[in-house]
Amino acid sequence: MNVSDLRGILAYIPQFREKVFVIAIDGAIVACENFSNIVLDLAVLRSVSIKVVLVHGIAHQLKQLSILLNTQLSNTTGIGVTDQKTYELSLMASSNVTFQILEALSTSDLRACATNAIVAHPFGIVGGIDYQLTGRIKKIDVSFIEYLLQKNIIPVIGPIGYDGEGKSYRINSDSVAQFVAESLQAEKLIYLTPYPGILNGEGKLIRELDVSSALEFHKTFSKDMAEPIRSKLEHAIHACKNGVNRVHILDGRMDEALLSEIFSNSGVGTMIYANQYESIRQARRKDIGSILKLIQEPIEADEILPRKGTDIARDLPFYYVFERDNQIVGCIAVYPYPKTSQAELACLSVAKNYENQGIGRKLIRFAEKLSSEQGFKQLFLLSTRAYLYFMQKGGFKEADPSILPLERKLKYEKNGRRSKVLYKSLNG
Ligand SMILES: CC(C)(COP(=O)(O)OP(=O)(O)OC[C@H]1O[C@@H](n2cnc3c(N)ncnc32)[C@H](O)[C@@H]1OP(=O)(O)O)[C@@H](O)C(=O)NCCC(=O)NCCS
Repeated sequence: MNVSDLRGILAYIPQFREKVFVIAIDGAIVACENFSNIVLDLAVLRSVSIKVVLVHGIAHQLKQLSILLNTQLSNTTGIGVTDQKTYELSLMASSNVTFQILEALSTSDLRACATNAIVAHPFGIVGGIDYQLTGRIKKIDVSFIEYLLQKNIIPVIGPIGYDGEGKSYRINSDSVAQFVAESLQAEKLIYLTPYPGILNGEGKLIRELDVSSALEFHKTFSKDMAEPIRSKLEHAIHACKNGVNRVHILDGRMDEALLSEIFSNSGVGTMIYANQYESIRQARRKDIGSILKLIQEPIEADEILPRKGTDIARDLPFYYVFERDNQIVGCIAVYPYPKTSQAELACLSVAKNYENQGIGRKLIRFAEKLSSEQGFKQLFLLSTRAYLYFMQKGGFKEADPSILPLERKLKYEKNGRRSKVLYKSLNG
């Protein structure tokens, strides 16, 4: 790891601090060579105050036990019928995997605890089939898990549910993870699997799918998908529809997959995300307080020209806000200079917790579209500290201050900030 990796990680910390990540690890991944690296990655997540809940599967270990003990399994996934023998082997496999995880976490000095947080009932008889010792999740003991998280203890949850009357049941671990993530309203649910993620019809990895596209994809391709990955996709869709923002399906065999997916914009697996309500709209008088809050830090850091509430009120028709789920998380101003057919992009700011999610770029594109629709031929801006951002992410080019409209040039010369002048031509 080099210093720039660390800087990259630090940029995400305000967004993720104290948030809950449910990490679901397939039994095959606990058994693979890379598991010790995953544990180190978990230590990194904990060190930046991300609350981690671990859920694990057992299919791999169950199959191994059945070979070792020469026993026929009624089912390996916890979805079909669980007969008495399979149930007994499931308990054995689950205890072994939980123990292995606890042991590995302790090597990184991480405190963890095996839990009985899944409250379950028998799945029952469905379509004439008695599912015997397969369970159905009734609820998750959220306060218990939250208590552990509060004490900096990682809850470890196996695919076994308890009915509170001395009986337990085999549950599918993908659905355990989905239920836990929904009940805790987790920021992320991450499945670590022995698959690269979700592949499209041509075998190429799909990086991102919003939940509606994921549903469409499932409709078309589910019959061609490997069962474990189809199961992850179905649970991911469910979780996204029920309050989990993002679900990631990653190759747990890959070194640093977890950190790369969480702490970079590109990612390495497939991310399925909830459709969030987003809009950019003209600012209203009641938004002035939120805008001032958004620009306060950048003003103090000399990133944005100082403005007061009265300045914003005067120029209100030129201000726009970015709303996500009814919260103002970004702003921008677009000033017109009709005489020279130019518009100025100004006062771009994104709330710290929402940085690196493409909101800045959406606001820039909005400013371009708006200026173009209003008939302007060129969008320019002045920047002291974010000029590389506008050049690298927004496609702006550096220019001489002489391109500025006269009245703007006079202000530029007067304020002495020596900002860089950038511009972009607008086509039609
Ligand atoms: C600059 C700012 C608007 C970016 O908003 P954002 O929503 O986080 O930006 P995006 O999500 O579109 O882009 C993030 C990318 O830009 C990069 N980036 C962010 N600020 C940068 C800067 N000052 N210089 C170079 N790159 C920068 C990020 O590292 C990230 O790169 P990656 O995609 O390769 O990982 C935001 O950081 C902000 O409000 N800064 C303070 C105010 C400011 O400087 N405004 C400009 C006034 S002229």
